[in-house]
Amino acid sequence: MPSTATAHTNIALIKYWGKKNTRLNLPTTSSISLTLDQFYTKTTVTPNSQADQLFINGNATDATRVHNFLNNLRQYLGDFEPLTVTSNNHVPTSAGLASSASAFAALTAATARELNFNLPLTTLSRLARRGSGSASRSFYGHFAIWHEGIDDTSSFAESLNAPAMPIALVVAEVSDAAKKVGSTEGMRRAVTSPDYQDWLRESAKQLVDMKQAIQHSDIEKIGAIAEKNALSMHALNLTARQKPFTYFTCDTQRILSIVSDLRHQGILAFATLDAGPNVKIITTLDSAKLVEAALLSELPALHVQTATSGSGIIYD
Ligand code: DP6
Repeated sequence: MPSTATAHTNIALIKYWGKKNTRLNLPTTSSISLTLDQFYTKTTVTPNSQADQLFINGNATDATRVHNFLNNLRQYLGDFEPLTVTSNNHVPTSAGLASSASAFAALTAATARELNFNLPLTTLSRLARRGSGSASRSFYGHFAIWHEGIDDTSSFAESLNAPAMPIALVVAEVSDAAKKVGSTEGMRRAVTSPDYQDWLRESAKQLVDMKQAIQHSDIEKIGAIAEKNALSMHALNLTARQKPFTYFTCDTQRILSIVSDLRHQGILAFATLDAGPNVKIITTLDSAKLVEAALLSELPALHVQTATSGSGIIYD
């Protein structure tokens, strides 16, 4: 019998940007995310008698990363049969969001279900972490916190049980002409920045403030802290001692200045960016259309899409 699970992607408001253990994907900081309703991965696993296989959006795809991940799961769940993994990504590349978070969360949940393991979400979270760190947070709806932990058992995410609030995220995709540096490689470089230890200290304080802002549904404070955290993460890339780099393009900077102009006009808007040039603007559901319009009036070719808080893992 095949088993199917759907996971939504998430955007980090307090970032994971560095590993203290690369084999286990243990992060150097705890992180906080918002799960997004618009973007998700639906994955079905079916046993086969030959070898692990992967199909993404109908196309046979190199299964090495998935095969390695499934072998990790085999160490924990027992030596199960090879699986055919059929994954449909509703994370359009045009949205500029990484799909690894939703992909590894959905795969972990579908595999555990297929093997009749009824595992708590925290266990699924720590298993998925081994595939991609950000996947640990995609099991929960709304806001999640990933505790950095000190070992494989203590590093997992859980729900922040936050009140409902009209938060929105406007995703602005800019053309990505620059050569990409993947997250794992970007982190490897960033930790060589002389400012890295300061960033760790600051991140720990921001985490406490962010939790409080979320419990108070203070979207303005959530945005302000998230923007500060993200921009200082990107400063680490520029100041890395080994292979300094930036994900920013000219359009990235133009969008950042539009966001700051919007704030001067009294509109709640704050920016955050991940491992790429695309900007995600934290705002309210009421102001999202205004933010979209302001972006498109200066950059008409921009692709914009608004998301809000999404749900946790879903089984068919
Ligand atoms: C900037 O989870 O993609 O989006 O664990 O190496 O697969 P790996 O990295 P990944 O990194 C995400 C980095 C980030 C910040 C975040 O999501 O916390």
